[in-house]
Amino acid sequence: MTAIGLQDIVVADTAISYVNGEKGQLVYRGHWAKDLAVHHTFEEVAHLIWYGSLPSPEKFVEFQAKFVKERELPDYIHSILNVLPADMTMMDVIRTVISALGTSGYEYPPTFDQAISLTAKLPTIIAYRYHRLRGREIVKPRKDLLYSENYLYMLNGECALPAQVRALDSYMVLTIEHGMNSSTFAGRVVASTHSDLVSSITAALGALKGPLHGGAPAQVTAMLEAIGTKENAEHWVRNALEQGTRLMGFGHRIYKTVDPRAVALRDIAQQLAGDDYWLDLAIHTEDVILRLLKEYKPNLKLNTNVEFYSAAVMKAVGLDGDLFTPTFAASRMVGWTAHCIEAVSSRLIYPESRYIGDMPAVE
Ligand code: CMC
Repeated sequence: MTAIGLQDIVVADTAISYVNGEKGQLVYRGHWAKDLAVHHTFEEVAHLIWYGSLPSPEKFVEFQAKFVKERELPDYIHSILNVLPADMTMMDVIRTVISALGTSGYEYPPTFDQAISLTAKLPTIIAYRYHRLRGREIVKPRKDLLYSENYLYMLNGECALPAQVRALDSYMVLTIEHGMNSSTFAGRVVASTHSDLVSSITAALGALKGPLHGGAPAQVTAMLEAIGTKENAEHWVRNALEQGTRLMGFGHRIYKTVDPRAVALRDIAQQLAGDDYWLDLAIHTEDVILRLLKEYKPNLKLNTNVEFYSAAVMKAVGLDGDLFTPTFAASRMVGWTAHCIEAVSSRLIYPESRYIGDMPAVE
């Protein structure tokens, strides 16, 4: 059997997460992701994803101390960040800078300490570049703040409101891991060759950047801006579908029913944004799109995916559009690194292709 795009093909056994696309279920190591997003912090869920259990209070203190210590960047990374051209996108910057961390300290086989180090450094890289581009003073990481809180603090130069921190943290938990998605697969392919963790993560970042995967939220914002008003939604969406345009934030390879992350994020966005004009437009547009997708593509089960309301949550906590995919990377780093560690005991990934070109004359 040939499965183009590897659809329905199992490439690995994993104990990290379970995605049921028919039932709309997402489980992280035996726990419902949607419950974890309400009751636990990003750090606690990162501990669960990496080590297989939620931390005890004592373990949490020890784990958090390790995490915080790794937030600072080496000096040469600052130098690289200072010279990268202004027109490089944030995702290009992250991919380049993570790659520049090199193999020293991140040798094969990947370890939990290496995973913590990469995860802890990513928000610092993003915030440094963010301020550098705007000619502002750099805001250094704070040791007393949790991951999401510290990220918002470094970007804004002041502590965010508790509701904003909570919303971003829930988003981070909901996107921390998701089975064998394209970027995790890319990272796992590299890890399966026994290459180092930095190389695997560089590959994963390249895959996440694409608009069909993690690059979608900024395009959701662009779509809503183009639509502009509720009255224009039906006309705009019809026109887009007639031209064969893909509507960002809809459809999913695995989910054939509603993406559970989209439901949770919609609630979070509603709580945070209240009567916000943009969110109101998003909710109205979602209804229009779902109705018109049924009309134009009646045989396809196309539903709202995580990216549609990710954009709403990130906008509501004050993040600019160029930070949407990088923020996704800052959470998914945990899932990627966990898969790379798990891949050490898996077989080399080496699928086949089907040749459809010409053959030379018979020898
Ligand atoms: N808008 C319009 N048509 C769509 C859409 C969409 N968003 N998604 C799929 N289709 C159509 C597609 O045109 C095709 O139609 P036809 O058979 O008539 O040519 C059919 O559905 C199957 O498309 P496919 O590309 O074979 O499906 P896939 O499983 O490879 O695609 C997807 C999954 C996410 C790439 C796709 O749904 C898409 O492009 N969505 C928009 C981008 C997006 O929101 N990406 C974020 C995904 S969630 C984050 C993650 O987990 O990666």
